[in-house]
Amino acid sequence: MSEPANPKRVHITTYGCQMNEYDSSRMAGLLAEMGYTPVERPEEADLILLNTCSVRERAAHKVYSQVGALKALKDRRPHLIIGVAGCLAQQEGDRLLEHIPHLDMVVGTGALQSLPQLVADADQGRRRSHTPQPREYRWPPPRVNSGLKALVTVMAGCDNFCTYCVVPYVRGRERSRPAGEIAQEVAALVESGAREITLLGQNVNSYRDPRDGLDFPGLLERLARTPGLWRLRFTTCHPKDLSPRLMEVMAGEETVMEGLHLPVQAGSDRVLAAMGRGYTRSQYLELVQRLRRVVPGVALGGDMIVGFPGESEEDFQQTLAIIDEVGYDFLYSFKYSDRPFTRARRLADKLSEEIKSRRLLELQERQRQRSLALHQEMVGQVAQVLVEGPAKKGTGLMSGRDRGGRAVNFPGGAELKGRLVRVEITQGLVNSLKGRLIQDPNKGVQS
Ligand code: SAH
Ligand code: SF4
Ligand code: F3S
Repeated sequence: MSEPANPKRVHITTYGCQMNEYDSSRMAGLLAEMGYTPVERPEEADLILLNTCSVRERAAHKVYSQVGALKALKDRRPHLIIGVAGCLAQQEGDRLLEHIPHLDMVVGTGALQSLPQLVADADQGRRRSHTPQPREYRWPPPRVNSGLKALVTVMAGCDNFCTYCVVPYVRGRERSRPAGEIAQEVAALVESGAREITLLGQNVNSYRDPRDGLDFPGLLERLARTPGLWRLRFTTCHPKDLSPRLMEVMAGEETVMEGLHLPVQAGSDRVLAAMGRGYTRSQYLELVQRLRRVVPGVALGGDMIVGFPGESEEDFQQTLAIIDEVGYDFLYSFKYSDRPFTRARRLADKLSEEIKSRRLLELQERQRQRSLALHQEMVGQVAQVLVEGPAKKGTGLMSGRDRGGRAVNFPGGAELKGRLVRVEITQGLVNSLKGRLIQDPNKGVQS
């Protein structure tokens, strides 16, 4: 394909989760077909697209201030098109156009396919918002140009309706992609250089092929055998649906990595019930025990919300205690935030910002100590690391991830990028491990 003589330029900013990252790459693909090439700086762009998140109030506010800041650019360059996509676009629809006069288009989460038309309309001065209920999510064809790691969405939406969460409203009901389509996409990504694929869904355990009913462990087994693929990860797992079969596949398939994001959200049964999570504290702990038995060395990640309406000091202490009991390698923690449409929004007993902030700080300190201890226990172990490139800090250090997904830094040369190497862990830190290369990288390298 020859490049157009006067290519247009697009700048996409992505907020929120990996689902949005995936959607951004799809939108970039659609725009490339229209002759848009990506640019780093928004000042140089003819089209600026913000792919937004609305999971917490702060995320949503950030978008308003970002779009506001673009007004000066638009004043200077009236032909500039500004668009908002993603979850806030889905949530607000027309209202965004009403409130922000310099905004040109709003693209809902179920309307990626309409992006080219919306851009063409904006070019003609027609401001439009397209946010149909995301039912028939159609994935635009992938534009394959992959780095070492790539994301593939296997299902969209969520049916769990946890009482605090806006995602089911802005991403729609759960729908799975046909396994054949996913397999083709994975194969194409691997063909273009990807070695590690992460499968995405709000609750991958409830994946079902719409045609033949293949379940998630079955999908993993099928994809794990893609020639040239070294590593397969997936996220997120809802604890209420984590099956023994999935644990067995993680243990049995060499390509499936031993890392699991298994958010618990709270440590007290009272709060878990109020959140509508569908499991108790002891069920969660049993699951973790079983997982550690079946998949030795598994790395666990989690999400935690502090300050859910009505959360007492006693509830919070149980949250701190479960962090100690589980031993997470990674924990993302958030202050509860009221979201539109949700049931929790209508609950009484909202906690003050002060209490939420204090609890969050305490929780994060507890987690720092716990992951430091966990990572220090790994000293002396040998990790298989996929080298991603030079470490951000420290000269002469290369950086990669172990099979669990933990960051590992070690002295080494740039030629190791893209290789699988063996590293002996020499130091455990809060968010990463340090180590030294223990074998000639030219030997035993998987390719
Ligand atoms: N499907 C994933 C979560 C997607 S949202 C799962 O169930 O694990 C990512 C995280 O944002 C959630 O796990 C939760 O911890 C947090 N979150 C969602 N809604 C929130 C709210 N209203 N306030 C604070 N944190 C929230
Ligand atoms: Fe939100 Fe719960 Fe669905 Fe996760 S499982 S996206 S927290 S409703
Ligand atoms: Fe993800 Fe935020 Fe939407 S977390 S699904 S981008 S609301």
